[in-house]
Amino acid sequence: MINEKLEKAFNDQINKELYSEYLYLAMQAYFERLNLKGFVNWFTVQVQEEHAHAMGMFDYVHQRGGHVELEAIDKPVTNWSSPLHCFEEVLKHEEFVTSRINALMDVADEVKDRAALSFLDWYLKEQVEEEATVGDVLATLKLIKDDSKALLMLDKDLAARTFTAPVIG
Ligand code: FEO
Repeated sequence: MINEKLEKAFNDQINKELYSEYLYLAMQAYFERLNLKGFVNWFTVQVQEEHAHAMGMFDYVHQRGGHVELEAIDKPVTNWSSPLHCFEEVLKHEEFVTSRINALMDVADEVKDRAALSFLDWYLKEQVEEEATVGDVLATLKLIKDDSKALLMLDKDLAARTFTAPVIG
């Protein structure tokens, strides 16, 4: 049976992952407005990944005999001044999520739940990957500046991203 404090921390993180899904859906809509379909595709995959992250924890809490209590999801920002600005915000958000996963692991450590720590290792590695992937796109956007031809080339690259359901834990 999962410790109550840890159960609450997992519930908080499920909410953060669902917020991430919602935020990236708002970003997907932003790129729809810009008619940059490769970016739209990139966020479509990102939205699916965040949903998988939330569901991984949702299932885990149940597997451990706990209860999931869903809270309201905050309204995300819905507009950005440029693709560069948008990706700066993605990176900031992923860094925030990394800090929350670390905090969740601190709670698991505090209540000496080694099984939960082992489960959360997957999320920690995933955050390293997420920050690196977003950092790459951001670096390219910084090089592109106002070159619309280069932006369209990046858009074409981002169209190739595909979703593979992760095996969590
Ligand atoms: Fe679920 Fe992008 O962190």
